[in-house]
Parts: sequence; structure tokens; C-alpha cells
Amino acid sequence: MPAPAPRSTPAFEPDPVADSAHSRLPDFVQLQQQDPAAVRTELLQGLLAAPAYTAPKYLYDALGSKLFEAITELPEYYPTRTEAAIFEAHAAAMAALLPSGATLVDLGAGNCEKAARLFGIFQPRRYVAVDISVEFLHKSLASLQAQFPALAMLGVGMDFSSSLTLPPQAGSGPRVLFYPGSSIGNFTPEQALVFLRQARAASSGGGLLIGVDLVKPREVLEPAYDDALGVTAAFNRNLLSHLNRLTGADFKLADWQHVAFFNTGKSRIEMHLQALHPVPVRWPDGERRFATGERIHTENSYKWRQADFAALLKTAGFAQTHAWTDERGWFAVFLAQA
Ligand code: AVI
Repeated sequence: MPAPAPRSTPAFEPDPVADSAHSRLPDFVQLQQQDPAAVRTELLQGLLAAPAYTAPKYLYDALGSKLFEAITELPEYYPTRTEAAIFEAHAAAMAALLPSGATLVDLGAGNCEKAARLFGIFQPRRYVAVDISVEFLHKSLASLQAQFPALAMLGVGMDFSSSLTLPPQAGSGPRVLFYPGSSIGNFTPEQALVFLRQARAASSGGGLLIGVDLVKPREVLEPAYDDALGVTAAFNRNLLSHLNRLTGADFKLADWQHVAFFNTGKSRIEMHLQALHPVPVRWPDGERRFATGERIHTENSYKWRQADFAALLKTAGFAQTHAWTDERGWFAVFLAQA
């Protein structure tokens, strides 16, 4: 049997099938990935600090990403469904304020579901899905392309928490940056300002559509980060398996307890891992002994007052801001126009 013809054909031989919208494939670009030695150095520096800390992005290995998806289904975790209801009710009003035919840039796209729900109303000219690794995007973007064959799609693998310079393949013209899920809360206010300034520059005269979790009673906040089923505890403790793989350390999950509480003064949920008894942890060229009750600070999730976030957007240089909330005032979606 002859070997199947290669998928790509020479430029001088037009391929009517490949050229038709139905066989369109998304493009992918992977920008610089952090080198493993630098990741290890950064992590060990945090583990040796007093108190020890790790950046929240390390919560998301393959299992961590699945556990986070499960968190969004929990009855206690209100942000995802509250934000979805705001989009459901107000997407048309948002679309009316956005430039028509803009590129929709989905930051932290994951399974691309949230952005895909907006395609019908927003009618973007191009869809750019950005996530830390292009691997995460392959499957979801390919099946989305089959559903929306006429829409040009690009997957970009980049760590936008440090820099938001999009590659030339993302095209020119106004862009709407889409950053849902209240992930902005995982930045400190100072980091959030840097990020928002970069987002404004990257929007090329378009705008930013961003989900922000608001301050609310502790009785609502704390169970959302310490659920009865223990999924958030598993999400937090799974970080230790990821650290073992990245640094060669010998953390044992059973030695550590999940702790989450609302720090009112700093307006943030803090997640920590707390040693249940004296815990020696070793890695190839070092070690640390954690005393009973000593913690590793693994995540902050800032809760904003609506007026303070609107002021932050203005400080970042956005000209106009609009906001929509749910009837309890728990969550806000902001549209900031460059
Ligand atoms: C991704 N991020 C917005 C979540 C949050 O609510 O801060 C991460 C999370 N951490 C624990 N539960 C959810």
C-alpha cells in the first residue's frame, strides 16, 4: 500500500482541501520557556526563605489543573458560576462597547470554553489563546477550530505573568484582552498594576475584559478556599509532588496540612501548607528542617473593592471603564477601554 500523502503540499501545488475553511488548522507558537535550572533555583530560594513561599503558578501541573477544574464545580467556590452568570446577562452590552472585528486574546485560555461562549456575540476577527504551555492548548484549540472553521486561531505558549509581549503572529489591529476567572487576584496589587499597564499596551487601542473577585464576608470566602470535600486541600498539597519533580526534593504529602484564611488587613485569602510535626526535607544539594506548625505560603487571592479596582485601571492608563456585577455584589466584570 502506498504511504499516505504528506499533510503539507508544496506551495506551487494548490491543495483545495487544505485551503477550504473546513480543514483549517490553528497555528501554534511556543515562546521562550524557563530553563529547568532557573526554575529549580527560584523554587529553592523560596523554600529556604523565612517564611518559605512558592509562586502560585506551581500549583498547576497536569493534576493541579484538573483539580482546579474540579474546584470550579464545588458548591462553595462561587467565583466561576457568578462570573458566568454576569457574562450570560451582559455580554451583549459588553460587545456594544468593544471595537468590532477585533482580535480576541484569551489569557490563561486552558480549555478555551469561556471565550468560545462569547464568539457569537463578540464576532472576533481572530482568536488568540494564550497559556503557559502550548501543549495545554493543542487539543482544545483543534476541536474549537472544527466548530468555528471560519475563525483564524492561534495558540501561544508563554508565561504572561512576567511579560505580555505578544508574538507578531497575533496580528495587528485592535485587540480585546480577555482575562476572566479573577486570576488578577493571584497578583499582588503592585504586580497587578504592572500587568494592567502591559495589557493596555498589548491591546493596541482595543480593551481589556477582566473578571475581579470582590470583598465579601469571611463566612463566604473561607469555605470557598477550604471546601468540605477537601478538593482545595488536595490542589494545595499536590504542589509538593510538583516541587519534588522540579527540584528533586523529598516532600511527603502526609506531613502537610492545607491552611486557608482571609487576611482582612491585606484583603486576601492566603493559602499555606503547614507542617504537622517536625519535617526534614532534602534535595540533591541542600535541605530544610520545618518545625511543627511552620508554613509554606503557596498562594494569595486578593479580593478587591469595586471602586479600588476601577481606580487601578485608571492608574494603568485605561481611558474608560465599565463594570457589571451580580445582584449580591460578589464579583465584577470590568471592561476597560484603552
Ligand atoms: C485561579 N485563581 C483565580 C483561583 C483563585 O480563586 O484564586 C485559584 C484557586 N486557589 C484556590 N482555589 C482556587
